[in-house]
Amino acid sequence: MAPKNTKVDQDKKPLNFKLLVIGDSGVGKSNIINVYVGEPFQRTFITTIGVDFKTKLVKRSSVSGPSGQLSNENSGVEQQLQDIKLNIWDTAGQERFRTITTTYYRGTQGILVVFDLSNKQSFMSIKRWIHEMEQNCTGSTEVPPAIILGNKSDIPREKWEVSDEELADLRGNHTTFLTSAATGENLEQAFSHLTELILKRRAIENERKNNQPFSTIDIKGSAAGSGKSKKKKGNTLSNSSKCTLL
Ligand code: GTP
Ligand code: MG
Repeated sequence: MAPKNTKVDQDKKPLNFKLLVIGDSGVGKSNIINVYVGEPFQRTFITTIGVDFKTKLVKRSSVSGPSGQLSNENSGVEQQLQDIKLNIWDTAGQERFRTITTTYYRGTQGILVVFDLSNKQSFMSIKRWIHEMEQNCTGSTEVPPAIILGNKSDIPREKWEVSDEELADLRGNHTTFLTSAATGENLEQAFSHLTELILKRRAIENERKNNQPFSTIDIKGSAAGSGKSKKKKGNTLSNSSKCTLL
């Protein structure tokens, strides 16, 4: 007899996450993405026109427990093996493309804000990028998880234009990785961390939906359907329900 659907079977379809990379022109956004997806680092600066797009398939083995916490320990909670397709949108940092790039925030699930450690102005711009992100992330209930990348860490320390104090301040307020597209340093860690944050946010949102009172779901479901109320036994409705949650 064929085995019944297991959790792992259901999860074979990859999750799709939309990531957006923002920051001033020349900080290394395109190179960060290219190197992360396995393409070579480019010394020549070819500025991005509008937006570009790359994908990467990653595997996550995590455990989702009560309250949406994720851990890799097998502590008796449900194991989830999951393929995740990262759709990484590379935006142009140049001001003249701003009206185009702001339209790409919609539906974004994770953001990487990049600055160049050897360029003070790009560091000063972080505030503005975060503000822009908050203004434009419509379509989701909350602003998605975001991390900051201080790129070009391969450049000798004496040429950095950001002090230790400024970096410490930044770290106090935001999750920050010092990366290098030239050497690949911390790229895997940064994307992996952001993916975990998205998974965690998703687990919390799913749990919140599952905790919606049954009566609310039933009213919506029957209104949208044939008019017959298909009341389930018990007080839960699965995620696959076509009912719109309020
Ligand atoms: P726009 O597309 O204009 O927004 O720029 P961008 O942020 O995509 O910058 P891009 O990736 O094109 O890189 C700009 C320049 O910085 C290129 O000459 C790269 O070779 C260089 N660069 C990028 N990342 C690094 C890095 O980690 N280290 C060093 N030393 N140079 C880098
Ligand atoms: Mg670019």
